[in-house]
Amino acid sequence: MHDTGELDLDTNEKLVINGGKRLKGEVNIHGSKNAAVALVAAAILVEGKVVIENLPEIVDVNILLNTIKDIGGVVEHLSHDTVSIDCTDINKHKADDYDLSAMRGSYYLVGALLGRKHNAEVISPGGCNFGIRPIDQHKKGFEALGASFETTGGYIRAKARRLTGSQVYFDKISVGATINVILAAVLADGMTNIENAAREPHIVDVANFLNMMGADIKGAGTSVIRIRGVEKLHGGKTYSVVPDMIEAGTFMIIAAATRGNITVKNIIPEHMESLTVKLKETDAVSIEEGDDFITVKGIRRPKAVLVQTLEYPGFPTDLQPQIVGLLAIAEGQGTVVESIFEDRFRYVDQMLQLGADIRVEGRTALINGVHKLIGAPIKATDLRAAASLIMCGLVAEGTTTVYNLEYLDRGYEGFVKKLAELGADIKRV
Ligand code: EPU
Repeated sequence: MHDTGELDLDTNEKLVINGGKRLKGEVNIHGSKNAAVALVAAAILVEGKVVIENLPEIVDVNILLNTIKDIGGVVEHLSHDTVSIDCTDINKHKADDYDLSAMRGSYYLVGALLGRKHNAEVISPGGCNFGIRPIDQHKKGFEALGASFETTGGYIRAKARRLTGSQVYFDKISVGATINVILAAVLADGMTNIENAAREPHIVDVANFLNMMGADIKGAGTSVIRIRGVEKLHGGKTYSVVPDMIEAGTFMIIAAATRGNITVKNIIPEHMESLTVKLKETDAVSIEEGDDFITVKGIRRPKAVLVQTLEYPGFPTDLQPQIVGLLAIAEGQGTVVESIFEDRFRYVDQMLQLGADIRVEGRTALINGVHKLIGAPIKATDLRAAASLIMCGLVAEGTTTVYNLEYLDRGYEGFVKKLAELGADIKRV
C-alpha cells in the first residue's frame, strides 16, 4: 500500500455490498486521472506558479505531488481539488520515492525532468499488471531528441547535453510515449514532429496546458503533432483538468447494469461516443445527451454485443472490464476483444466466483450472459477491474465482499460515496 501522507488508507479494508438496488440520481465527474498525472509532471517544465483545478484526489496524483516537493517544487493545496505548483527552484533530477514504482504515470517525470534539467533519474514505473508493458517507444522518442536512455538498477535514466527537435515516428500508438515526448520536446531547440501519435483527450489536455504556459504545440488530438521548442514556460495561469471519460463511462455502464437512471454531469459527451453507441446497441438503455451531461436509463436486459478495444476514438481499454461485467448478465453470447494490452482479463476469475459464465481465449473473452449473479467474496485485481467487480456486486443477489481496495483508491475519487448517494447498499469497513 502507498503511504501518500495525504490519504489514510488501510489495506485490510473491504467493501460490503448488498446487491439488487437500482441506482438513481446525479453524479459529478472529477478531472481525468490520466490527464492529471501528466499535468502534475508537466508543471515541472514551468517557471512560476501554476494553479491546477479539477484535480482528482487520488493516490497516484498525491504520490506525484509529494515527488514535486522532494525535488524542490512548492505545492499548496488551495482546496480539495485545486493545487498550486511552483517548480521555479527545482534542484534535483532524481525521483526516488518508492511509491512511484507502484504507478504508471511516474514515467512522465522522465520527459519533464529531461526537458527542464536535461537529466532524469526516475524509479521504474509499475501500474496495473496487464502483462509486459514495454517503454521502447519512449526510448525511441527521447533518443531522437538527442538523449541517452537506459533502464538499469530499477531506474530509468535519460540525459542530454542539449535536446534538439527531431522527427519521431512511433511504431506503436502509445498514450504514454506521446505525452512523454511532448514533455521532452517543448523546451528543445527547433521543431519536433511526432507521427502516429495517440489521440486521447488527455493528450489534447496536456498540449492545452503547455500552450497556455507558452509552449507551441499544434495537432494534438490528431496523429501528427508538431512542437516548436520555446526557451521557457511561464506560470501565473490557472488550468482545469479535462473531465474523466473513464469515470463517466463507468457510471454509465453501472446505470445500464443496475437498470437504474443516472445522470453523469460535468463531462464532454463527445468523448463518450464509442460507449454511447455500444450501449445503444445492447438495446438496454435510453440515453439523453446535453452539453455537459449524459443520462443513461436502464430499461431492459441488455442483448449481447461484440466489443473490441482500440485507441481513441475507439472503445477504451479502460472500460473493458466494465463492459464485460455488463455482458455477464446480457442475453446471448457477447465477445470482447482486447487489442491494447496482452493480458487484461485477469479479473475474470473473480467474476466467475459470482456465477458469471466467461471463457477467455488469448485476447478474447466469450461471455455467456446469465440471468443473475450471486454475491460472494472477491478480490480486485487492478483499478478498472475493481470498479467492474463492484458493479457486479451491485447487480448480484445477496452480499458481495470486495477486497484489495488499494487498486480503486489509485484512480477513482470518492467512488463508494458516489455509489451510496445513488442508492447503493454499500459500506467500506
Ligand atoms: N507500448 C509499447 N511500447 C511503448 C509504450 C507502449 O509497446 O513504449 C504498448 C503497451 O504495452 C500497450 C500499448 O502500447 O500494449 C498501449 O500502451 P500505452 O502506452 O498507450 O499505455 P500507457 O501509457 O502505459 C495509459 C494509461 C492506461 C491506459 C492506456 C491506454 C496512464 C497513466 N495510463 O497507459 O490507463 O489503459 O494508456 O489508453 O495514463 C487505467 O487508467 O486504468 C490505465 C491502465
